[in-house]
Amino acid sequence: MNVRDKTVVITGATSGIGYELVRRLAGANTIVAIARPSAKLDALSDEFPSCDTYPADLAIPDNYQAVGDRIMRNHPHIDILINNAAVQHTPTYLDDDFAYETILYEIHLNFAAVCALSYLLLPALLDDKREAVIAIINSGLALAPKTGSAVYCATKAAMNSFSQSLEYQLEETNIKVIQSFLPLVDTPMTKGRGTGKMSARQAAAKIIEGIQKGTNPTNIGKVKLLRLLLALWPGLARKIMKGY
Ligand SMILES: NC(=O)c1ccc[n+]([C@@H]2O[C@H](COP(=O)([O-])OP(=O)(O)OC[C@H]3O[C@@H](n4cnc5c(N)ncnc54)[C@H](OP(=O)(O)O)[C@@H]3O)[C@@H](O)[C@H]2O)c1
Repeated sequence: MNVRDKTVVITGATSGIGYELVRRLAGANTIVAIARPSAKLDALSDEFPSCDTYPADLAIPDNYQAVGDRIMRNHPHIDILINNAAVQHTPTYLDDDFAYETILYEIHLNFAAVCALSYLLLPALLDDKREAVIAIINSGLALAPKTGSAVYCATKAAMNSFSQSLEYQLEETNIKVIQSFLPLVDTPMTKGRGTGKMSARQAAAKIIEGIQKGTNPTNIGKVKLLRLLLALWPGLARKIMKGY
């Protein structure tokens, strides 16, 4: 798909990889940006005039239908939906700072919102005459979990399964499902941890390249090595990821 003159919905558009996706795509496309209500979100449409902003807390399932309806009313034709918003809580269940309420928050935002928006925006994506893409921003942690962030890893693994089934369901339609599997990327999500991180700018460029080429899955950076290790030495791969 040539990503020009398209309507692109991006969740989690205000920060990190989502913001870089907006920055790269806004010049040639209409952007429908979703994030929680904030001055940051308002500023997006000042910075990028082609950006239409939709404030919504996607950790609250009651919000899904309303935001889906609002978008569909203003944008009855959508070419690309990029399910990008997520949070990661790193404490383990044994840590004193583990917060019980983060469990459902993470499941709703990282997984339920992806399933819901992919369904609610489907009528605007389905079309006999043009291609469309549902992009899922995933992680190497979907393939092999680490010790911390158990709920996050599980939401990403669930998204992997969901994306594969959705791909089967949409096989005979104009919609292609593309999962991008990212390595560690330098964003507010990973602030203060990890080394050798890919830049958010580079990650966004690779995601867009995958959408343009229709590559599913799009394995980015060290995820290619992880896939190879999992195929050849799965025990070693899991051991490395356990301590990641
Ligand atoms: N960074 C990495 O190393 C890495 C690696 C693999 C995969 N990924 C994936 O890449 C994607 C982007 O991550 P990132 O690192 O760019 O994260 P980030 O910089 O923390 O940005 C997260 C985005 O999600 C939005 N968001 C957070 N809570 C929300 C809520 N309740 N409702 C609606 N939007 C919400 C934030 O907007 P507001 O705060 O303004 O609402 C922000 O725009 C995620 O799916 C993540 O799992 C990241």
